[in-house]
Amino acid sequence: MASCWKPPKSPIFSNDSLPLPMLTNQPNHITALFPTRQWRVGLIGFGCVGQGLYDILDQRPEAGFIISRIAVKNPTKARTLSAERFEFDAELLLADDSLDVLVEVIDDADTAFWLVSESLRRGRRVVTANKAMLARHLPALVQLQRETGGTLLYEAAVCGSIPVIRTLEAYFGVEPLHRLTGILNGSSNYVLTRMGEEGADYAPALAEAQQLGFAETEPSLDMGAFDPRSKAVLLAAHAYGAFLDPEQVLNLGIEGIGAVDIAFAASQGQKIKVVAGLQRLPDGRVTVLVTPQLVGPDSPLYTVDHEFNGVVIEADFAGEQFLRGRGAGGHPTGSAVLADLAALRQGFAYQYHKAAEAPEYAADLEVEIYLRTNEPRIIDLLDFSEISEEADEDEYVVGYVALQHLIRHRDTLRQYGAFVVRTGRLRPIGEEVETVAASA
Ligand SMILES: NC(=O)c1ccc[n+]([C@@H]2O[C@H](COP(=O)([O-])OP(=O)(O)OC[C@H]3O[C@@H](n4cnc5c(N)ncnc54)[C@H](OP(=O)(O)O)[C@@H]3O)[C@@H](O)[C@H]2O)c1
Repeated sequence: MASCWKPPKSPIFSNDSLPLPMLTNQPNHITALFPTRQWRVGLIGFGCVGQGLYDILDQRPEAGFIISRIAVKNPTKARTLSAERFEFDAELLLADDSLDVLVEVIDDADTAFWLVSESLRRGRRVVTANKAMLARHLPALVQLQRETGGTLLYEAAVCGSIPVIRTLEAYFGVEPLHRLTGILNGSSNYVLTRMGEEGADYAPALAEAQQLGFAETEPSLDMGAFDPRSKAVLLAAHAYGAFLDPEQVLNLGIEGIGAVDIAFAASQGQKIKVVAGLQRLPDGRVTVLVTPQLVGPDSPLYTVDHEFNGVVIEADFAGEQFLRGRGAGGHPTGSAVLADLAALRQGFAYQYHKAAEAPEYAADLEVEIYLRTNEPRIIDLLDFSEISEEADEDEYVVGYVALQHLIRHRDTLRQYGAFVVRTGRLRPIGEEVETVAASA
């Protein structure tokens, strides 16, 4: 067996001008080997994330970033800082070459796209957290970076504080992954957890989540799984080099869930979680699904509860990795923005290595689902190819349906309040036996 590499005994840097730091009792003796000047940040948006970043930098001036200019929208809004800190034309920040980097954290996807693309056109460094905007425009933004030399990072856009994009890029950038599964939305996860704990129904659990600030007043993006779908689209670009249109990806939410569904899962020793499943199939193609799924205790996602997010990366050589953390909130999301600022200062940029051999996207699959509905029309529409379990009194069916049928009829499912959970099994259309196990 080959022995492991051992560090040389002599110092790596023998040059006198670069002495290695010596350990002494003096506080603060050890400083960065390559100290840099403070970077000037232009902050666009001062809501939850913008204020979170501001607060972190205020507490950590030694991080080396100073917020020099702040642009917001509403001139009459009460602020937590003095009025002279704010301005109202973000374009002026884009034109200010004394700013080293722009941070775009506004709540308007169209304007965010204009701000980010215009910044890149000017060859600037930009950090954004806007997943909906990124999921819609990622190919164009990557192309702009290639043309102009601008750099865009967006760790905060997926799972807040969890460093998943950088892990995929910098660590698994060239290693094939066979699967990536994640709970990417804290709001729906909070609702599902509380339903499980209390045996409660959907409406009171959602009301509690809203009261505690874990869910928006207008909850459809989170509960309908549109938000985790945007994040899954971003993960697909980094995990597989697959640039997908969000509409291609099946997203089913939890608006139709009831206590009876939680009880069904519990009777099998499982929980229901909204899981984004990205998977390489045996033929090399990739599929992405974002739906409720049965998750058993053998999965690390089983214990990701309340508002937390979690991601399991299954790499061909490294094996399984599990990341868990807070997916939202001012400080967790601000922390991810800070990490991007520090990465930019080190010259880091996403490489999208796997895009060079982008896999084909597969939707010609059959998915095993549990469907609960009191509307016979829904069962007809989905056209099950195989039914393994049917319970008339509980109004549910378990069996295989074509993924294309689920994609085509997802709005009708929503409209009729039908609830669908994946069991985790997939198979090519027409196969009689399970060929691709996809348990979360
Ligand atoms: N909140 C989270 O935990 C979280 C987590 C991950 C990602 N994100 C993403 O981060 C982004 C920001 O979210 P947030 O929760 O911080 O939003 P937010 O609390 O609603 O704040 C939005 C901010 O954007 C400003 N704004 C809107 N339009 C603007 C414009 N045209 N020019 C300049 N400023 C403008 C608003 O100005 P006024 O103050 O004048 O209204 C406000 O300060 C979103 O894309 C969100 O999806 C959020």
